[in-house]
Amino acid sequence: MKTFTTVKELQNELKKHKGKSIGFVPTMGALHSGHIALMKNSLKENDFTVCSIFVNPTQFNVKSDLDKYPRTLKADSEKLQKAGVDFLFAPSVKEMYPKGTKETVKVNLKGLDKQMEGQFRPGHFEGVVQVVHRLLKIVKPTRLYMGQKDFQQFTIIAQMIKSLRMKVELVVVKIQRAKDGLALSSRNVRLTEAKRKWAPIIYKALKEAKRSMKSKSVAEVEENAMKNLGKPRGYEPEYFTIVDGYTLKPIENWDDSDYVVAATAVWAGKVRLIDNMILKQS
Ligand code: PAF
Repeated sequence: MKTFTTVKELQNELKKHKGKSIGFVPTMGALHSGHIALMKNSLKENDFTVCSIFVNPTQFNVKSDLDKYPRTLKADSEKLQKAGVDFLFAPSVKEMYPKGTKETVKVNLKGLDKQMEGQFRPGHFEGVVQVVHRLLKIVKPTRLYMGQKDFQQFTIIAQMIKSLRMKVELVVVKIQRAKDGLALSSRNVRLTEAKRKWAPIIYKALKEAKRSMKSKSVAEVEENAMKNLGKPRGYEPEYFTIVDGYTLKPIENWDDSDYVVAATAVWAGKVRLIDNMILKQS
């Protein structure tokens, strides 16, 4: 695997492979099996795979979260090498934002950024759009790989691609879970032992929502999940919402949409976990 820290070096390498398909997996490092599943998909479907590791400061609305974000470049690099990734792009903040972090792209997100996470993480998705747009301009991949765990993130990036008519295919890879059901995330390593023990309740709440679709109303399912997610000590659900998977707007009745998704964010002590499940898609 070749590693590049500058745009120029990476592009010089990619120029050598003109006409070949390029799969691209953007990450912020602290790689786990969820990321590796994205790499594996890309490796299977493209001639070359590029992974980026860049802890993007513009998507953190809380400075302490940015400071605490795990940075494990050496271990990450070894995992990528083992997976068979061709190129790693690990730029500095200055390299990514040579004109400063304020320069960004304007995209009509059709209110997608205002739902779910948007209410609790102001500015977060603007930062994600800014960095993914810049990365796509640099790498110019054939396919972009993102995880379903960040449901709102991939929905927003799909809207960006559509609205800017970018020539890239977005591939969404299903959520990877630990044996007990916890969705894999770079934040999981920050859970205390006690909080980790209870973490499967999130997946349980999602499965319970799916099971209850026939017998309970949308509001009842949401209420029930909020109650259960707040039971363990130190657990505090921020939201558990059932939405239309295209607009991310809350639905009131199960028949309001043919693409129904349950999404949740839960504080487990000081760690914020998110998860989701597609309840219906026809
Ligand atoms: O999902 C992430 O890790 C990040 O939001 C992304 C897509 C790499 C942009 O910084």
